[in-house]
Amino acid sequence: MYFITPLFFWIGVLAVVPYLALVLYGAYGCPEQNLKTKYNAQWALVTGGSSGIGAAIVRKFAGQGLNVVVVALDDATLAQFKETIVAEFPLVKFRFVGCDLSEATGETYLSAVKEATKDIDVQILCNNAGFITTGGYADVTLKREMANYHTNVTSGLTLTHHFANEMLDKKLTGLITYTSSSAGFIPNPMSALYSSSKIFLTTFAASLAAELAESKIDVLVVHPSPINSNFYSNAGKMSTLTSAQKFSSPPSIIADTICRSAGKIVVSDQGPITVVMKIVTTKIMDWNVFTEIMKLGLRFNGDYKAMKVDRPLKKAN
Ligand SMILES: NC(=O)c1ccc[n+]([C@@H]2O[C@H](COP(=O)([O-])OP(=O)(O)OC[C@H]3O[C@@H](n4cnc5c(N)ncnc54)[C@H](OP(=O)(O)O)[C@@H]3O)[C@@H](O)[C@H]2O)c1
Repeated sequence: MYFITPLFFWIGVLAVVPYLALVLYGAYGCPEQNLKTKYNAQWALVTGGSSGIGAAIVRKFAGQGLNVVVVALDDATLAQFKETIVAEFPLVKFRFVGCDLSEATGETYLSAVKEATKDIDVQILCNNAGFITTGGYADVTLKREMANYHTNVTSGLTLTHHFANEMLDKKLTGLITYTSSSAGFIPNPMSALYSSSKIFLTTFAASLAAELAESKIDVLVVHPSPINSNFYSNAGKMSTLTSAQKFSSPPSIIADTICRSAGKIVVSDQGPITVVMKIVTTKIMDWNVFTEIMKLGLRFNGDYKAMKVDRPLKKAN
């Protein structure tokens, strides 16, 4: 039995040390890169580019001399961002595609994006648009849940399929990114769809990165620590989100992370909150055990108590 303690020690070391080495490499070992030069690219496309993290990515790319296609909801936020960014970067070309990425088939926004990009080569694609729906899954309308799913997941799949084929057919190098979330590391009752949609992106990106590596198309998935953006004002009231927002960083930190990590690492866990969450929830605590604890403990959680819908008994037929 004398070997048990060192065995657990070495399992811990083997799980955590290589992970921390990658995190430190991503945070301190990768200097900023100019993506226009790195990929010999003229154009990038950013979804959810009108606000928060997406707007910061657009600004960063424009500062590097890249022209940018901004895809976001056709609303006042996009109109205002258009005015600001064009004035800020008079020498950069922008194209704006106002569309709804929550469409199930993707046909309408894909044809709008194809039309807007038919005469240019998009070599950097940032699948960033997304939002969170709070409440019990069965209590929120299916329409809302599916719109959330299609925005967070389907739009990224649809645009990736189109632009990856364009790059492969033209033998272009490039970069495809996904804005995932550390929420995907754990079960997230009362926002079940959000965390599931984000872990989908992470797993998908990790597989795609290997498929496209030989063709020199880099894939990057970022897990941001809390970022100060409209994300929180658009989400329903939930104390975990309010607490997260208190520790939030500016959106530019994700744009910087993308420019440092592109082609260097595939999965970028940005910031201390994400890193600590990853270690606790995937390396110290077992997922199955975590799930059981969550199931037993949720009924005592304030958010759950506040959001759960009490239903009058409906008589069975
Ligand atoms: N903020 C955080 O702490 C955090 C942490 C982890 C991951 N993320 C992820 O980061 C990404 C960007 O979020 P953010 O924090 O920058 O929030 P944000 O400021 O609300 O930005 C979201 C962007 O997506 C667009 N969008 C939303 N629904 C859309 C739809 N159906 N069709 C087209 N565009 C749509 C929004 O347009 P409108 O402004 O017009 O609605 C906006 O441009 C999201 O995927 C989010 O899940 C955020």
